[in-house]
Amino acid sequence: MMGKNLITGGLGFLGSRVAKRLLDDGEEVVLFGRTTKSRFIKDIEEDKRLKIVQGDLRNFAQVIEAVKDNDIECIYHLGALLANEAEVSPQTAYEVNVNGTYHVLEAARLFKVSCVIFPSTIATYGQGIPDVVNEDVVQYPNNMYGVTKVIGERLGEYYYHRYGVNFRSVRFPAIVGPERTTGLSSYTSLMIIEPAMGRTYRTYVDEKVRCPFIYKNDAVNALVSLRYADEACLKRRVYNIEVISCTAAEEAAAVKKYLPEAKIEFHPDKKSVEILNAWAKDMDGTRAFQEWGFRLQYGLEETIKAVIDEVRQGTFTS
Ligand SMILES: NC(=O)c1ccc[n+]([C@@H]2O[C@H](COP(=O)([O-])OP(=O)(O)OC[C@H]3O[C@@H](n4cnc5c(N)ncnc54)[C@H](O)[C@@H]3O)[C@@H](O)[C@H]2O)c1
Repeated sequence: MMGKNLITGGLGFLGSRVAKRLLDDGEEVVLFGRTTKSRFIKDIEEDKRLKIVQGDLRNFAQVIEAVKDNDIECIYHLGALLANEAEVSPQTAYEVNVNGTYHVLEAARLFKVSCVIFPSTIATYGQGIPDVVNEDVVQYPNNMYGVTKVIGERLGEYYYHRYGVNFRSVRFPAIVGPERTTGLSSYTSLMIIEPAMGRTYRTYVDEKVRCPFIYKNDAVNALVSLRYADEACLKRRVYNIEVISCTAAEEAAAVKKYLPEAKIEFHPDKKSVEILNAWAKDMDGTRAFQEWGFRLQYGLEETIKAVIDEVRQGTFTS
């Protein structure tokens, strides 16, 4: 059996899918989360190689214990407050996203964890950036979520240089899947989910919003393949990746190709549109491809088809 992984935020949308992938690959997984129940883990909760530890990232002792007691080799640090929640309470976002990341890095340092994988975000970029951003573009986020993720990236790099903690990070766009029904960028998923369920989708963005996205399987693949990338090939600790970049109107048109009856209406919410418009519109994934071979497996049409199929199977939408 291969390594033992701790997934913080492991009962969440992405964490549960990383867990599924690692279990499928024959690895052991410990989920660290505020609760022990979640709709996202119903397909894996019976697996004997899965353990759930209840804890709070804000509590250093609980993070340390989870690492120490479980002989952890790799931490996928996915636990965080996302954009909407972080805007509601910037103070809590600081505690969870910044202090929580510090706790994870300290635990990794103290217990010699071999790798820490951290999902960052396009929300770390702010206004005035080029249309396509690579890793050299300066990050000036205009929202608390982005601010906390920039701090996480820099702290991880510091721990790498100062203590040799093998921190690796990938900046994600919105992640799309049938499970993804809340959050600022969730329109990218809901625009497929709602019509696939035969319902009208009244979206909160306007036709021109261009929030890049990727299908969840590609996000999982990015994290797991980065974890196993050859250290000698990595020239940086934080990577941008290839994304799907289209406007909301273009996504709606693509959905209608597969669901001709789809009804999608635009009722823009000014604040949401303003925040989304400040995020990067497209990412340059050249370095991720050159240095660890990451490419999308799902383009726009494959993503739409995959989500429609999953909705029809009803695993996450019932
Ligand atoms: N979903 C996306 O579109 C997207 C895009 C870019 C980056 N990311 C990053 O991926 C990671 C996972 O996101 P997700 O979409 O699965 O969101 P999610 O909300 O489903 O998962 C986050 C998890 O963190 C947990 N959490 C929150 N506060 C905690 C605390 N104090 N202690 C322990 N656990 C806590 C939540 O309970 C939740 O299960 C996050 O770090 C997020 O920033 C997500």
